[in-house]
Amino acid sequence: MALTNQELVAKARVAREKAYVPYSNFPVGAAIETEDGQIFTGCNIENATYGATVCAERVAIQNAIANGARKIKRIAVVCTNTKPCMPCGICRQVIAEFATDDLSCICAPGSDLAGSDQVRQLSLNDLLPNRFDADALDQ
Ligand code: THU
Repeated sequence: MALTNQELVAKARVAREKAYVPYSNFPVGAAIETEDGQIFTGCNIENATYGATVCAERVAIQNAIANGARKIKRIAVVCTNTKPCMPCGICRQVIAEFATDDLSCICAPGSDLAGSDQVRQLSLNDLLPNRFDADALDQ
């Protein structure tokens, strides 16, 4: 049985508990579902150089890809804010690299208490319209 969006968001909230955020104190969690129904999670991992920080979304995606997955159909993202957490620009490009055409990005508030009206569901085109992709390399 496939997870509901709410269940995927719950997995992102659990993953957020592992966030390593001594610099920003801004924990983020992500959970992705691959095309074949596997679930992988990630949290943000910061670094004293700041620039070497990796976002939760990319950690989850790298986890999936390193375990053999290639296509992502859903990704849920949470921080601890009442407002939903939106993926950064770099993560949007990385999500696009592995997204199915019907990818859904579920951006949810930090807790259910904020209410389901705070959940935003974005398509790949919502995330990154007019994107650069591998097709451009063939032209
Ligand atoms: N961060 C994420 O993990 N995902 C996002 O979509 C936005 C930002 C992290 C990076 C850094 O550790 C902290 O949040 C503050 O920018």
